[in-house]
Amino acid sequence: MLSMNVKSAVTFVSEKEWTAQQERALQALATLDARTGKGNDFLGWIDLPSSISSGELAAVQTAAEELSRHAEVVVVIGIGGSYLGAKAVIDALSHSFAALLPKPRRPLVIFAGQNIGEDYMAELIEVLQTREAACIVISKSGTTTEPAIAFRLLKQHLEARYGKAGAQRRIVAVTDGSRGALRTLATQEGYKTFVIPDDVGGRFSVFTPVGLLPVAVAGIDVEALVEGAVAMSRKVAVPDETNPAVQYAAIRNALYAQGRKIEVLVNYHPKMHYVTEWWKQLYGESEGKEHKGIFPAGVDFTGDLHSMGQYLQDGERSLFETVVGIGCERSGLTVPADTQNLDQLNFIAGRRLSECNRMAALGTLLAHTDGGVPVVGIEIPQLDAYALGGLLYFFEMACGISGYMLGVNPFDQPGVEAYKNNMFALLGKPGYEAQTLRIREIVSHLQ
Ligand code: PA5
Repeated sequence: MLSMNVKSAVTFVSEKEWTAQQERALQALATLDARTGKGNDFLGWIDLPSSISSGELAAVQTAAEELSRHAEVVVVIGIGGSYLGAKAVIDALSHSFAALLPKPRRPLVIFAGQNIGEDYMAELIEVLQTREAACIVISKSGTTTEPAIAFRLLKQHLEARYGKAGAQRRIVAVTDGSRGALRTLATQEGYKTFVIPDDVGGRFSVFTPVGLLPVAVAGIDVEALVEGAVAMSRKVAVPDETNPAVQYAAIRNALYAQGRKIEVLVNYHPKMHYVTEWWKQLYGESEGKEHKGIFPAGVDFTGDLHSMGQYLQDGERSLFETVVGIGCERSGLTVPADTQNLDQLNFIAGRRLSECNRMAALGTLLAHTDGGVPVVGIEIPQLDAYALGGLLYFFEMACGISGYMLGVNPFDQPGVEAYKNNMFALLGKPGYEAQTLRIREIVSHLQ
């Protein structure tokens, strides 16, 4: 279901180092398994796919059908881990031009609350004036500023358009089981709700209703997604070096120890762009702590070979690449022959685009390895719900292992608070008066 290839990357580390890092990775896996490491009250994600009952999945699907009946557009409000998993799965598994299909069978899923873009929100409300809409609002804490602002606007729009009772039928909240502003509001307004378990952090929540509800609205097979994750959870629990999550965590840490401080996740498939964004959050927010951690970056090839290719081939050698490949594509599209052959491409006429893409990937692997860049390969057989569920779970487990190898708590995110405190002080939030004076003084010297 997923294969790892570290052959090229291990040539950049000594055999001794590689063996030592694999042993460290196995120890980290054992710590995760025993639930004795840092942040062990946030390990609910480990058993999550296998512990979802068919009843819970059915409830998610029923809510998705209900929302779909009411809406041409479902706006999913959330940020960070409360948005990227669903966005990654929906983009990866939907028609690339779903919005332009003549008779959409499912509502269009649009995301909001992941920025404070004034024009973005204004334009969204503008298009909703002429569309039947519904909303899923997702926030574990229930107090995150960006989604809270977006939800105020959406709630106002839906209530103005459908009345309070109509809006209530069109809003579903996914939040903490008992705490937080969104839980209180949902109870007051009588919204349908789903719970984010206490022991699952945002970026590890794709297999809860946070990910599953929007994915089900988009018409994606959530059962297959979860089944793929369950199958992968067995594969990455194996306590030996054949475990792909152990291999991935070990090679990352071996390369990091040599000064490879940037990991570039590479895909050759446009639908995978947001899988990379999800991965960036998972690894960046889990590992970037105590002035340590690999910086996670991403590129979409072959397009980015024409923008970042020069740096990757020839720039500072402080990075390594991890290529996420897809074994086969579905459509069988081939390059057409052309009588004029002005572009001199008739030598590939009749060949599948996927074959050309594969040769581009192989050529790039050889070129970048020659250029001194270690390349790790991960491949899934095809891009479907089962394989993607497996890939996401694989990355989660490898992240837990890798974070423990680094010596940090991979399951908290204390650094995210700093900007929020400054923003609240600058906006004059009650209770922040002393900070407001101090920070305005600092800002006056910077502007
Ligand atoms: O991974 C995380 O925990 C974060 O990215 C959160 O998901 C993000 O900050 C959103 O938080 P909340 O769901 O509380 O609004």
